[in-house]
Amino acid sequence: MIKVGIITASDKGFQGKRKDESSEVIKRMIEKIGGRVEAYAILPDEKELLQEKLIDFCDRLGLDLVLTTGGTGFSPRDVTPEATQAVVERLVPGISEAMRRESMKKTPRAMLTRGISGIRGRTLIVNLPGSPKAVQECLEVILPAIPHGVEVLR
Ligand code: MTE
Repeated sequence: MIKVGIITASDKGFQGKRKDESSEVIKRMIEKIGGRVEAYAILPDEKELLQEKLIDFCDRLGLDLVLTTGGTGFSPRDVTPEATQAVVERLVPGISEAMRRESMKKTPRAMLTRGISGIRGRTLIVNLPGSPKAVQECLEVILPAIPHGVEVLR
């Protein structure tokens, strides 16, 4: 059983101006591979808040996998990769490389996500883009490899 946390980074979502469909896509796809979503947070695009929540999910809750969605683009408010970079101890470039490579086959705009992946303690953190479509496309690429990665981390 893979224990998963979801963090949605979205100013509009946090203010209740946009429904958070991306986290629902994540939940559905995680449950399909036998994982369980044990924690969820929606936050504004603020680096400090994102860092604190990432640390909380990794160190206090001891989750296997934390998936973030949103805040990976070029807008000055997009800081999810920077928050992630600040809390991980080891980078896992291959996961983000694979998502961008496969997503490029669907849209050249896939190169615009700055998302990273990395490990903090025994938790893998992966940044996904914000749209529900992008989340689905990216998870389809990486989910086949995730259970093995998480198992080795334990
Ligand atoms: N990746 C996939 N698979 N499919 C997409 O439609 N959209 C891109 C990109 N990655 C997209 C994608 C676009 S348009 C942007 S701006 C970036 O993700 C960043 O998205 P974010 O700022 O919502 O995180």
